[in-house]
Amino acid sequence: MLSNRFKIVGDIRLPGDKSIAHRALLLSTFKKDVHSLDNFPINQDLLTTLSILNQCGLTHKFKGNKLCINSRYINFQDLSINCNNSGTTARLFCGYLSGLNINCNIFGENSLSKRPMSRIVEPLKSFGVSISSTKGMLPINIQQTKQMRAAFNYKLKIASAQVKSALILYALSIEGTSIIEESIKTRDHLELLLLYLGYPIEINGNKILVTGKRKILHNLDIGLPGDISSASFLIATAILLKDSNLIIRDIAINQYRMGFVDSLIEMGAKIDLTNKCIKYGEMVADIRIQYSSKLKGITIDSDKIPSMIDEIPIFCVVAAFADSPSVIRGVGELKFKESNRIKAIIDNFKNMNGDISYNDGNLLIKPKNKMHNTTILSFDDHRIFMSFYIANLALGKFYSDNLNDKAYVKSFQEFIDIMKDNIHENI
Ligand code: S3P
Repeated sequence: MLSNRFKIVGDIRLPGDKSIAHRALLLSTFKKDVHSLDNFPINQDLLTTLSILNQCGLTHKFKGNKLCINSRYINFQDLSINCNNSGTTARLFCGYLSGLNINCNIFGENSLSKRPMSRIVEPLKSFGVSISSTKGMLPINIQQTKQMRAAFNYKLKIASAQVKSALILYALSIEGTSIIEESIKTRDHLELLLLYLGYPIEINGNKILVTGKRKILHNLDIGLPGDISSASFLIATAILLKDSNLIIRDIAINQYRMGFVDSLIEMGAKIDLTNKCIKYGEMVADIRIQYSSKLKGITIDSDKIPSMIDEIPIFCVVAAFADSPSVIRGVGELKFKESNRIKAIIDNFKNMNGDISYNDGNLLIKPKNKMHNTTILSFDDHRIFMSFYIANLALGKFYSDNLNDKAYVKSFQEFIDIMKDNIHENI
């Protein structure tokens, strides 16, 4: 049963968008100069990308959460890079390093080493890059070649912003105009950032035209807008907890990442976006969320999945408290995230006495009155941890102290502190 014990009330800002931050770090090396990224999200994955660039001669210092970068002395020679547990780091670097035409070895932790890499290795190989994986996974090896590298024309086989961005990064380093085509559009942070920096990239419907070896005209001197994926956990909290009222300021509302918010609005959630404006090329807004007592179940079709790929676990949690069942179609890709998220969601639902089933790529969530709070099974996956942390909160259990499980630090270091500062007991 939904508990009325807690509410969330506050007016907050969140650390910068992780996807934009990875891309901004990489772009800071194309113009060898000084750059700054304010509101930098200081978490494991971003520190991994940063430390790899440090290995190549980039230096940095933090002034609070403003990251000041000096890329003047960056110099790429044969490399062996550890991507720890960051899939975005591994895939983006595959494209980026292939473009530099040096010898490198890309590896990571155990769990990252089980995630599929053929999606990025195969297209690069087809363009003539000498790249090989280990049975479709890490470690990946790239060998320098003397062969002329030509511009390419490639239609993405899966909807993946990581693969698309990796191919754009590769295309930036080779002569001529490459064309990358998507069948379903995905987050376009790299494209927007390049345009903002004055790079001549062209977006023509589902096609992206990248002419390599042009100059980035401006230095990166930007403030990163808040991360919508981190915000999703707080949005869910405010919707589910009675008497909640929350404003989250300055969140990037990239049109290809709004599936979660759009779906909640369709269910009847009270969410308003205000103060919309464009900052550093990205649309940002303040998001106001109020407790929403009536939510109806909905069906989400597979073509919407890329726009809420990271929010499926927290969406399942919200859907479990609606008035009617919800269906999410085409979620097979979730098996290849930081954990097998289908299994992780099902196991946690079982633990809470919830009702969810997976069949043929589709999830069916049936709200049930008799759910109860329980331990969180994180599977060492940040988004599973945070989703079921919120489920427990909605079921009357606030995990505020002595948390042994720190899975959330991968992407949202401040998560527990923000919860502690803004959750109040209903009296
Ligand atoms: C990301 C893209 C998505 C997402 C990941 C971050 C990115 O992955 O799940 O958390 O920054 O490009 P896929 O491209 O594998 O869908």
